[in-house]
Amino acid sequence: MTEVKKLFIKTYGCQMNVYDSERMAEALGAEGYVTTEIAEEADMVLLNTCHIREKAAEKVYSDLGRLKPLKAAKPDLKIGVAGCVAQAEGEEILRRMPLVDLVVGPQAYHRLPQMMEKLGEGQRAVDTDFPPEDKFDHLPQRKGRAAPTAFLTVQEGCDKFCAFCVVPYTRGAEVSRDPARLMAEARALVERGVREITLLGQNVNAYHGQDWTLARLVRELAAIDGLDRIRYTTSHPNDMSDDLIAAHGDVEKLMPYLHLPVQSGSDRILKAMNRKHTAEAYLRLVERIRAARPDILLSSDFIVGFPGETDADFDATMDLIRAVGFGAAFSFKYSARPGTPAAEKTPIDGELADARLQALQALITDQQRAAQAAMVGREVGVLYEKPGRLPGQMVGKSDHLHAVHVADPEAKVGELVRVRITASAPNSLAGARL
Ligand code: 5AD
Ligand code: SF4
Repeated sequence: MTEVKKLFIKTYGCQMNVYDSERMAEALGAEGYVTTEIAEEADMVLLNTCHIREKAAEKVYSDLGRLKPLKAAKPDLKIGVAGCVAQAEGEEILRRMPLVDLVVGPQAYHRLPQMMEKLGEGQRAVDTDFPPEDKFDHLPQRKGRAAPTAFLTVQEGCDKFCAFCVVPYTRGAEVSRDPARLMAEARALVERGVREITLLGQNVNAYHGQDWTLARLVRELAAIDGLDRIRYTTSHPNDMSDDLIAAHGDVEKLMPYLHLPVQSGSDRILKAMNRKHTAEAYLRLVERIRAARPDILLSSDFIVGFPGETDADFDATMDLIRAVGFGAAFSFKYSARPGTPAAEKTPIDGELADARLQALQALITDQQRAAQAAMVGREVGVLYEKPGRLPGQMVGKSDHLHAVHVADPEAKVGELVRVRITASAPNSLAGARL
C-alpha cells in the first residue's frame, strides 16, 4: 500500500490556475498524496503561481522565504513551484531559492509523476517544456461528488501579444482542446453533481477545437440534461463572433454575464497596447451584445498608467466606462513585465498612475452598486454554493453572478432556486426564496 502523504497547494492568480491546481492535486493523488489546508502538516507544498504583474510574481518569492523554517524543521518536505512564474523563470528559481525541489510549467503538469520520482531519488526537477500532447489527456479524471460549480479549461495560451502581457510567453500559443473530450468531461462533471460549468481560456472565445466554435460548444453543452448554467471567461472583443452573440440571445442556459476586457478607452493607448480595436468598435460591440441579451451584465479589465498615457487618454477611458455602465471590473496599475514590448518604454509617474487608478475604481464601484441596486425587486435564479455565516442561511450566485444570501434553513448546497432580491449590500445581495 502506498503511504499517505499530505499535499498543500496555494493558488495565485486566475481561475485557470484554480482548475490546474485541482488537476495537479489529482495527479499527485495517484502518487499517494491527499490534500491538506494546513501548510505545517504537509509533506509537499506546491505554489501554483502567477506572473501577470510584478507584485504577484514577487509574492511567490516572499512566500517561499516564509517556508524556510518549515523546511528546516522537516528536511523531507518537498517544495514545488508551478504555474506562470515557474514557466517564466525556470532554473532561475532553483538558483535563487535553494529550498525549492521542483519547478513545473503550466504545460507539463502531466509529467509530475516522473518528476516526483526524481525527487524521491534526492534530485531536483525542472520541466518547462511545451510538449505537443494535451496535458489534460494524461491527467487522471476527477472522481467523487463535486461542488455544484466547476471550471473546465477549453483553450489555453494566447496569440494576441498585447504589448504589456506575459501570457503568450508563459502559457504559449493558443491551443484548443478536442471538443469530444470536453463534452465527455462536462458529462462526467454533471454526473458528479455539477450544475454550472465555466469554460476557461486566456482567449476563450478564440476556441476552435476541430471545426467547433465556442458558440457551438456552448450549444452542445446546453443539451446536456442536468447542466443548468454555462459561463465562459476571458474573452477578447475581436473574437466576439456573430454566432456567439446570437447564443447569448437564444441559449437560455448561457448566463447573462460577460467579462469582456477593453483595457483602455483611448484609441492611441489601445494602439500602443496592440489591442487591434478602437474604443468605438468596443462600444458598437457592446450594443450588439445588448441587443441580443438586453439584461446582460458586462465586466472588464482596465490598465491605468500604461507608458505614454496622458490625462486626455485617461479621460477617454473614464468616458468609455460611463458610456458602457459596467456591472463589475478589475483594474490594475500598469506593471512592466520583462520580455514584453511595453517594458522597453518609459513608464509614467507612479503617483499619477495611483491617482488615476483610484478615480477609475471609484467610478466602477458606483456602477457596480448601481447594477446591484437595480436587481432589488427582481426575480433571479440562485445556485446555492455553500451555507452562509448566519444559521439557516445559504449563499450562491445569481444568473448575473452576484453573490446572494438567502434565509433557507431546509435547503441544500447544489439547489437552484428562484429568489426575489430584497436588498443590496456593498458586495452582495439579499433575497427571499420564492
Ligand atoms: N500590468 C498590469 N495589468 C496587466 N494585466 C495583464 N498584464 C498586465 C500588466 N503588465 C491585466 C489585464 C488583463 C488582466 C488579466 O491583467 O487587464 O486583462
Ligand atoms: Fe494577454 Fe492580450 Fe492575450 Fe489577454 S489577449 S492573454 S491581455 S496578450
